[in-house]
Amino acid sequence: MDIVISVGGSVLVPEISAERVSEFARVVEKIAEEHSVTLVVGGGKTARDYIGVARELGSNDAMCDYLGMDVTRINARLLIAALEGTAYPEPPTSYREAEDALADEKVPVMGGTAPGQTTDAVAAVFSEYTDADLLVYATSVDGVYTADPSTDDDAQKLERLTPEELIEIVMKTQMDAGTNSVVDALAAKIIERSGMHTIVLDGSDPTDIERAVLDGVHDGTEILPEETDEEQGALDDF
Ligand code: UTP
Repeated sequence: MDIVISVGGSVLVPEISAERVSEFARVVEKIAEEHSVTLVVGGGKTARDYIGVARELGSNDAMCDYLGMDVTRINARLLIAALEGTAYPEPPTSYREAEDALADEKVPVMGGTAPGQTTDAVAAVFSEYTDADLLVYATSVDGVYTADPSTDDDAQKLERLTPEELIEIVMKTQMDAGTNSVVDALAAKIIERSGMHTIVLDGSDPTDIERAVLDGVHDGTEILPEETDEEQGALDDF
């Protein structure tokens, strides 16, 4: 299978540590023994800190985005270091370059690719571009909720939903100031148009990614084009 794994910066480097990055690398190596894997790494708190300071200094959003992208690539480089020869030696800056790395049987470890989006969208576009079989978001939340669980006590976690339902949730969440959606709106749209099989799960324990990919077992949320009556019932309530 062709698998794209998006690793949130806050999951890979909650605090910068060789041990944690190595744990992720060991999981990726194990999955790569059986599957073709691409990693997309986020910027986490470091990116937010740098962007915050740049904003105070008067940088506009596009300038801040470039700063954020640089941080995603710094995090990608840590994972490349831990993966040694298994990874392509540079974070690819384009989808084409990442595809070439896959053709060389290396694991591409990407960061951001263009301003105006986050690595959520990078992972979704690359999955679509390469007709991947599975897209996994390893994030700091344990799945998709009907609302932002950090601000809404009635938020319900969904085991499974359709891409259309994901878009509805993301748009609703993004309109509430101060809330964060589980994936950005562009990523949700790409997942919808490509019909990509997507899993959102808690990446705090990297072995949960291995379990999801290799055994098909996880406690997160499946995003699949078909819908079941059960999940529709939960969605009808939000
Ligand atoms: P992230 O993908 O890490 O943002 O990109 P995020 O989803 O908010 O953070 P985590 O890692 O999941 O906690 C960090 C920043 O880099 C810029 C954006 O400014 C983004 O907020 N970026 C990233 C881009 O401009 N383009 C990209 O393709 C990726």
